[in-house]
Amino acid sequence: MKVLFTSSEMYPLIKTGGLADVSWSLPQALAANGADVRIVLPAYLDIMKQIKTFRIAGWLELPGVNRHYDARVIEVQDETLPVNLWLIDIPELYCRAGNPYLDPDGYDWPDNAERFTVFSRAVAGLAVDHANTGWTPDVVHSNDWQTGLVAAFLSLQSSPVIKIFTIHNLAYGGHYSHDEFMALKLPSEWWSHESVEFYSGFSMLKAGIVFSDHVTTVSPTYAKEICTADFGYGFEGLLHSRQHKLTGILNGIDSDKWNPATDSSLAANYSPGQDDIFEAKRKNRQALLKAFGANLKQSRSAAPVLGFIGRLVEQKGVDLLLQVIPRLLANTTARFVVLGSGQADYEQRLQQLSELHADRVFLHLGYSEPLAHQIEAGSDLFLMPSRFEPCGLNQLYSLRYGTPPVVHKTGGLADTVVHASAEALHQGTATGFVFTRQHADALYDAIDYALSLRRRPKVWKKLVQNAMQQHFDWQDSAQQYLDLYQQYEAR
Ligand code: ADP
Ligand code: GLC
Repeated sequence: MKVLFTSSEMYPLIKTGGLADVSWSLPQALAANGADVRIVLPAYLDIMKQIKTFRIAGWLELPGVNRHYDARVIEVQDETLPVNLWLIDIPELYCRAGNPYLDPDGYDWPDNAERFTVFSRAVAGLAVDHANTGWTPDVVHSNDWQTGLVAAFLSLQSSPVIKIFTIHNLAYGGHYSHDEFMALKLPSEWWSHESVEFYSGFSMLKAGIVFSDHVTTVSPTYAKEICTADFGYGFEGLLHSRQHKLTGILNGIDSDKWNPATDSSLAANYSPGQDDIFEAKRKNRQALLKAFGANLKQSRSAAPVLGFIGRLVEQKGVDLLLQVIPRLLANTTARFVVLGSGQADYEQRLQQLSELHADRVFLHLGYSEPLAHQIEAGSDLFLMPSRFEPCGLNQLYSLRYGTPPVVHKTGGLADTVVHASAEALHQGTATGFVFTRQHADALYDAIDYALSLRRRPKVWKKLVQNAMQQHFDWQDSAQQYLDLYQQYEAR
């Protein structure tokens, strides 16, 4: 089975969120299960800076807005990369400072419609070997709106290639105007409700849904939620009508990189079953607080640390966090460690809290891989009050690091965390804390309950051990993708 996997980001070369982690782990897991996989990404400046050896595998001529681009197809030759990587090199579109979607001031690149339309054309061209590489896939697997048009362009070719599209986040629809549609010279027959037209503009995500043979999303619960008005962002009718070709497949995690037994970012390593887990976690907590500049002499060393990592956007429930932190500061000994960046108002309010309570609220506005690992290990609880969460990876990392997550019952959070009810504790199935109502009081109560359990060492130890013993490896999920590909190959 030959798979061309495409996405707009991939750890460790370029990452803004969980999509990068998945684009790194899933292709490797597919390859481990026997598939011949190639990944294709845009040749962003940040990637080109990291690539040492490559060869030109071919050329593609691609129409853009008022011009044509001659794209080099770069094949990366790097033995440390466990995947075959192709890059679409068009310096005018991808070779610039900033992240894949935003300029250095945080605004969308004004030519994003062109950047990702041209990239999608390139991927479709590669799939039917317009670049003369000598390799053609059985399956093209695209991810999120940036590669939504791949399936649409493939539909213009008489190719038997199987088109799979994965939705990682429906909130980002790749919405553009009729003027952009015209400037991109997209086929006029696509301008219809049955095709990519969406509320008087057009949506690249919709193209992925409409033109693919099968659509997946990253958890079974999110697959159901997106067929409803509360979560569907206007796509619910379309998705509901296509439920027969919509499947939720849970993400896994890279359990080598996220392994508390070997993680080199930690002050002390530990593994499930080990007797002195809490001694190791205590050392990690102290190291974490030190890394955030806490005065360890003045602080109460056993007071719990509550961690949060993530994009500071509405999706992540940052407003709830901002409401509960002052109440928890007043009523408990809890301290907070927050790592993230995003909306300016959230950043400012968190900054104010951390200045007002410099001894208990620690904040790092920005991106840091080592700090993310240290927070997972050094916190006592991990907070994830997301409004919606297609899958979520941080709760999976925190389970593995023995840091019970407190999560809102939605999407992948609902599918991966078992609430520590009296019954689940008794049965030994509990792994964290799940609240149902998206409200600050519900988050507050869940944290308050979690802190009360933490004061019962025997119960807490069992909960932590159980959380650490959960398996969210990619193996099973990758097999589900392969089974899906095979189902279409057999047709
Ligand atoms: P999403 O993709 O919606 O942002 P996920 O939970 O799926 O959420 O994945 C987020 C990924 O990005 C995780 O690997 C998380 O550790 C990482 N991450 C998010 N923000 C930061 C940050 N500020 N610093 C380091 N890692 C971060
Ligand atoms: C998205 C979602 C997140 C998911 C990630 C990887 O960014 O917000 O829930 O884990 O994609 O699939």
